[in-house]
Amino acid sequence: MSARFLILCSLILTLFSCTKPQVELLSPSIIPAPQLLQVNPGHFTINEETTLSNNDDFTACYNFLNNFLEHATDRDWDIKYSDNNAIVLEYDSSITSKEGYRIVSTDRNITIKASTDAGAFYAVQSLIQLMPVDIADRTEIHIPAITIKDEPRFKYRGMHLDVSRHMFDVEFIKKYIDAMAMLKMNNFHWHLTDDQGWRIEIKKYPKLQEVAAYRDSTLVGHYNDTPHQYDGKKYGGYYTQEEVREVIAFAKARHINVIPEIEMPGHAQAAIAAYPELGCTSDNIQVAMKWGVFEDIYCPSEETFTFLENVLDEVIELFPSKYIHIGGDEAPKTQWKTSDIAQRVIKENGLKDEFELQSYFIQRMEKYLNSKGRQIIGWDEILEGGLAPNATVMSWRGTKGAIDAAKAGHDVIMTPTSHAYFDYYQSENENEPLAIGGFLPLEKVYHFNPIPEELTEKEAKFILGVQGNIWTEYMTTSDQVEYMAFPRMLAMSEVAWTREENKNYTGFSNRLEAFHQRLDVMDINYANHLYEIEGVLNENQAYELSTKTIGKEIRFTTNGTEPTATSTLYESPIPFTADMTLKAAVFKDNEQLGSVFIQEFIFHKGVGATISINKESHKSYPGSGAAGLINGIKGSDSRYGDREWLGFWGEDIEIEITFKEPIEIETIDLRFYNAPGQWIYSPKQIELFLTLELDDTVYDIIDVDSNNQSILNINYELYKPKSLTPKYKNLKLRIPNYGIIPDGNQGAGNKAWTFIDEIIIK
Ligand code: ACM
Repeated sequence: MSARFLILCSLILTLFSCTKPQVELLSPSIIPAPQLLQVNPGHFTINEETTLSNNDDFTACYNFLNNFLEHATDRDWDIKYSDNNAIVLEYDSSITSKEGYRIVSTDRNITIKASTDAGAFYAVQSLIQLMPVDIADRTEIHIPAITIKDEPRFKYRGMHLDVSRHMFDVEFIKKYIDAMAMLKMNNFHWHLTDDQGWRIEIKKYPKLQEVAAYRDSTLVGHYNDTPHQYDGKKYGGYYTQEEVREVIAFAKARHINVIPEIEMPGHAQAAIAAYPELGCTSDNIQVAMKWGVFEDIYCPSEETFTFLENVLDEVIELFPSKYIHIGGDEAPKTQWKTSDIAQRVIKENGLKDEFELQSYFIQRMEKYLNSKGRQIIGWDEILEGGLAPNATVMSWRGTKGAIDAAKAGHDVIMTPTSHAYFDYYQSENENEPLAIGGFLPLEKVYHFNPIPEELTEKEAKFILGVQGNIWTEYMTTSDQVEYMAFPRMLAMSEVAWTREENKNYTGFSNRLEAFHQRLDVMDINYANHLYEIEGVLNENQAYELSTKTIGKEIRFTTNGTEPTATSTLYESPIPFTADMTLKAAVFKDNEQLGSVFIQEFIFHKGVGATISINKESHKSYPGSGAAGLINGIKGSDSRYGDREWLGFWGEDIEIEITFKEPIEIETIDLRFYNAPGQWIYSPKQIELFLTLELDDTVYDIIDVDSNNQSILNINYELYKPKSLTPKYKNLKLRIPNYGIIPDGNQGAGNKAWTFIDEIIIK
């Protein structure tokens, strides 16, 4: 191409851009991703003359859009029946999905089609996300020409919020619901009662407001820190029935159903503190001041059933929800075992044990609610002792509850701790705010597939959907709730809405980067871990670094110094051949984004050996597979769900390591996680077998005392006879599970978890 031609071209471009200014069009970044989105040439311009055109079917949706536009553009949007320069809401009976919709935007207009107000509402949410966030500052808003055909994957798309451990004002509850609506979620699970506070006004029982709503003091720091310390401050409050009505109406206008949770028979200490006759001991107890599971549960007396029925009468009056959640989780049976009342109910009803008594309790309450035209939801413990006939199960302790319930023909909502507990840490960064434990990064939430593979296609139909849970023991303010909820709620919305084949984590990360502006405008205190680095050791013993958003570079050092804009540019995996400290960060235009990623490597004698484990790790905690136990990388001291820790639930395991060639060994270091609050226990004993070069075996038993440490580092020194240098071919470790969690502890009666990481051989 000649220089003269180039000049001509640039002149033409300049002239063109003078006469017809280029329109800046946003690339669509809708979350959750629609099932089909096609960008066409051209755009629609919303200007002063653009009108809203509604056929009367979509009143709620029209009102929402009208309010949004009037507020955002600071002008009246009179309704006009015109389809030119208009946003047109149109009823279309051919859209069979009740929550489905179409959007077509052209140079002439934007047409929204749906067959229900809900569908039209979700179209409006997508439309708003096609607009720039700063529309208030613009005289014209440009929407790319686009075709969207969309409908949800699951019909239940939920978020939960625990307001017992910490309480948040109505304004915040509305903000939370608004964000849910933006993400096309349709069920708000309001966890209103628990041991640490009763938060809903029940007029018939004033002491629920006077006593059960307040605790005298609150645990400071983490539950695993001993001794426990308290702040000495009275804490509490409750939502009046007026406020509850206000929240329900606000949610309804956003197509969100509010499901109240009234816990029973466990997590009832606050109610029993107010009315001791509801318990089995009649002792005067206090509203709980620390977290966990408590033995004071409702006694199955007629008095209790009358109380609960009266409470539920008021709840039903307030909440139009078809579902009422009645808890059912974590109810220790200790008091029932010695209670005359409980034992009499067992005998009179021909029940086998206290588990069947719990089932009797739940079934009785179910019958009551069914008689009022409502259905119950319960946590997966309601499967124990026989499932209530029409119950929907909320599967939280993994997916077994879901599988059993679906196979028995019950509806299921998926909320497994491994993928749906947003009270877990979301980053390995040590500066994260204190959390309950675990590790649930955004990507893990995103990759959750709510249909367990054990289910047939027919059984899978019982999976109604998914829900993210926010338990607030460690979230004292609404800012902290936002930090833990966002952006994981966005990832969960895509799990709930977008079909598996239309999901893509890299695409999501880039849409999320654009979405940050929207969250900023909404004044949401989201966590931003998009610019953190992920590291994986590949099969060639080289370390791969990646970051999810486009247009960034990674720079690193291996000598422990801080990475800067002039440090080595990461271009290919970094070989791991000696001890090293790798530090890396993401840069754009020479500016560091996000925090420094640090990884220590220990080049011990196990690295590169062959390893096998006789059991598969739990599929929610696969770490980096067996090889990850000897990859030279230690698991995090505070995030047991990371890429390194392997989790086994209730199983005894046997690990075998075979060295490339016989080696001398001086020490073997083992690492176990020990967090009783999360049901994780280090083993009590380990058997060790070392095979020598000439096939003799050295055998030893290591007794383990956890000593309340959260990370157990066991340093085993080999006996080395003088003048001999034995060489070992093979190491075998037999690690029995801790067993059943004893009474008085969280998760009592359940199997304990074993979490193991790096086996360091020197
Ligand atoms: C639960 O997390 N206890 C349902």
